[in-house]
Amino acid sequence: MSRATADRAATADGAATADGAATVDRAADARAAPAQVTLFCPDAEATAALGVRLGQLLAGADCVALNGGLGAGKTTLVQGIVAGMGSRERATSPTFTLVNEYQGAAPPGRAPLLIYHVDLYRLAEGAAPTDSATPTVALLAATLGLDDVIGADDAVLLVEWADLDPALLPPDHLQVTLIAPDSGGRLVELASAAGAPRAQALVAALR
Ligand SMILES: Nc1ncnc2c1ncn2[C@@H]1O[C@H](COP(=O)(O)OP(=O)(O)OP(=O)(O)O)[C@@H](O)[C@H]1O
Ligand SMILES: [Mg+2]
Repeated sequence: MSRATADRAATADGAATADGAATVDRAADARAAPAQVTLFCPDAEATAALGVRLGQLLAGADCVALNGGLGAGKTTLVQGIVAGMGSRERATSPTFTLVNEYQGAAPPGRAPLLIYHVDLYRLAEGAAPTDSATPTVALLAATLGLDDVIGADDAVLLVEWADLDPALLPPDHLQVTLIAPDSGGRLVELASAAGAPRAQALVAALR
């Protein structure tokens, strides 16, 4: 289900039950202030452990954007997220496959969550060179069916190098930025944009 379809479904559900409640919820969502926290991970194990914590919090339709320079630790964090979501598979960097798919544990009474892991840097690298990487990434993402994954109730999307095509992401996504200070380890900044209540809740839970 696309994000737009999911939004329409949510609106329709709200209107069917209580118009007033739906209106209050939308107002609260729009008020959601930006949130941010920066954590320090002294080694790769700590990065993966933070990923496990995040993975345990993720639910269907969530999207995590991972940014940071080459070797910042994005895939290491994804490995933790995938493990935290209950997959026994070890996540690897998506290269030739372009999209890696894992299966998390099933929420109570529901089908298992699907985890889609993409790397826009590798996606752009695998495409024919053009003047601008962004249209190519968007085109490839559409070809791979990512539009259908975004906002789907049974799927979580993890995007490395997400800044290469921010327009691809749903508005309410968790922004993760990893920085490697000269002194060692990694600073991991977790942030939500304004009006992104789900990401705001995730930041609050990881504080
Ligand atoms: N907190 C940390 N402290 C020190 N090293 C770390 C930390 N977290 C991850 N690393 C190490 O950094 C290296 C690069 O990690 P990783 O492959 O996850 O980076 P990446 O951001 O996905 O890279 P790319 O940009 O190539 O996709 C690995 O050797 C990993 O073990
Ligand atoms: Mg990587």
